[in-house]
Amino acid sequence: MAFALMTTLPRLMPAGLLQQLAGVGVDTLRGLVSRTQPLPEVPGCTLGLLRDPYRFVLRTGARLGTDAFIGRLLFRRTVFLMGEEAAALIYNAELFQRQGAAPLRLQRTLFGVGGIQTLDGREHRRRKTLFMDLVAAPGQVHRLADLAAAELRAQARAWPRGSDVDWYAEMRLVLLRSVCAWAGLPLDADEEDERCEQLSSLFDPAHVFGPPQWQAWWMRRRAERWCARLVTEVRAGARDAPPDSALQLISNYVDSSGALLSPRAAAVELLNVLRPVVAVSVYAVFIALALEDNPAYRERVADDDRLLSVFVQEVRRFYPFFPMVAARTRQAFEWQGLRFPAGVRVMLDLYATNHDVRRWESPDIFHPERFFRREPGAYTLVPQGGGDAWMHHRCPGESLTLMLMQDVTRFLVREMDYRIDSPRALQWSRLPPLPRHALRLADVRVAGAAALPAPARKHARVGKTRPH
Ligand code: HEM
Repeated sequence: MAFALMTTLPRLMPAGLLQQLAGVGVDTLRGLVSRTQPLPEVPGCTLGLLRDPYRFVLRTGARLGTDAFIGRLLFRRTVFLMGEEAAALIYNAELFQRQGAAPLRLQRTLFGVGGIQTLDGREHRRRKTLFMDLVAAPGQVHRLADLAAAELRAQARAWPRGSDVDWYAEMRLVLLRSVCAWAGLPLDADEEDERCEQLSSLFDPAHVFGPPQWQAWWMRRRAERWCARLVTEVRAGARDAPPDSALQLISNYVDSSGALLSPRAAAVELLNVLRPVVAVSVYAVFIALALEDNPAYRERVADDDRLLSVFVQEVRRFYPFFPMVAARTRQAFEWQGLRFPAGVRVMLDLYATNHDVRRWESPDIFHPERFFRREPGAYTLVPQGGGDAWMHHRCPGESLTLMLMQDVTRFLVREMDYRIDSPRALQWSRLPPLPRHALRLADVRVAGAAALPAPARKHARVGKTRPH
C-alpha cells in the first residue's frame, strides 16, 4: 500500500504542490518518493505476434511511446524491448541470464536443448571461445567461403542455359555441401536431400510439409542422431576428421569440469554450426529481392567492393529474419523510469531495433549508403544480436555470414543473367518471411558455364527451359 502511494503520488500531484507540502526540494522528494512506473501492460501479445511477428513490437512501442512493455506470450509474462538502449540493457549479464529464458519449444527445434545459447557466465565464455576459434577465425571464414564459392559455381554449371532455378533450394544445397566438407562431415549424394530437409526445417519449419512445430522437432531428433553418431565414431577412432574441423574440435571439447560433452550435447553444438550456415540461403533470397527491387545497385555493386560491403549490411538491416533474442531478469531493477520484475522473460525485438526511426533515417527505405555516414555501434545493427561476440551471446558467425553474402551478390551481378517473374511480396506472418512461392530465377545464363563441362550432379533444382 505504502509502495503504491509512493509511486502514484508524484504522478497525481504537480511537483510545485508537493514541494510546498513537504517544504523540501523536488529532487529530494524524488529521492524519497520513487517516480518509477510499472511496465505498460499490453493485452493480446500472443495473437499480435502470431499475426505480425516482426512488426507487432515496433508498432505497439510507437503507439505507446515506449521501448518496453509487458504482456503474455503463450501464457507466460514477457517483457518486450526494442531500440539501441534496450539492446545494450539485455546484454548486461548482471541483470540478465539466458538459462531458462528461451521457450522450450524453440530449444527443441531451433537451437537444441543445452546448447551454448542457454549458458551463462564462465561456462558460456569457455564454450564461446570454441565457436569463435571455429567460425570467426579469418582462416576458417575464408576456407568455408572459398568452398561455398566453388560449390556455387560447380552447381551453376548444372543449370541448363535458359532454365528456371529455384534459388532458395539451390542455395540451401550449395551451403549444405560446403559446410559439411568444411566441418569434416561425410555427405553422400544420396543423403543430401534428407540432410538438407532436416537442417532447413530447424530455421524454416514452414518449408517442410505438415504441422511445422512437430515436424521440426522430429527433424531435429534425426539430425542430432546423425551428428551424435559421427561424434561417437571420432572419439572411438573409427572416423578421421581433420584436426581443425568442427567435427574434431567439438568432439574433443571439454567443459570447465574437464568432461567431454555427451554425444547428444556435442551434436547440438555441431548443428549450431551446420544449421546457420545453411540458413544463409534465406539471405541469398533477400539479396536477389534487393537487387530486383533496387536495380540501380546491380551495376554499381558489381564494380565497387566498398558499396558491395554496405549493400549486404543493408540487406541484413532491412529484411526481417531472426526475430528476437530472449533473456530472463536475475533481479528486479529500474530502467528508463520503468520497473522490471525479477525472474521475468524479456525479449529484444531485432527487426524493431534495426528499424528504429530514432536511429535509422527513413528505416523503411533500402539505402546502403547510410552506412557510409555512420558505422553501426555494437547495439544499433543487431540482425545477429548485439554486444561483443567474445563476451556476449552475439552471433559468432557474422563475418562468415557477411563474406558469404558478398560472394553470393558478386555471383548474381557479375556472373549471372536472369529474370524474376514470380511474385516477390514477403509473407510477414511467416518465420522467416520468405515470399509465398519459391523465388525462381528465370531464363538463367551463367557466364562461362557453356565452356565448362557440367559436373555429374544428382540434384539440380531447375525447371523447364523457357522459350526466349
Ligand atoms: C544466417 C545468418 C545468421 C543469422 C540471422 C544469425 C542470427 C543470430 C542471432 C540473432 C543470434 C542470437 C544472439 C543472442 O542471443 O544474443 C545468433 C547466435 C548464434 N549464432 Fe548466428 N546467425 C547467423 C549465422 C550464423 C553462422 C554462419 C554461424 C556459425 C557458423 C552462427 C552461429 C551462431 C551461434 C553458435 C550462436 C550462439 C552464440 C551464443 O549464444 O553465444 N550464426 N545468431
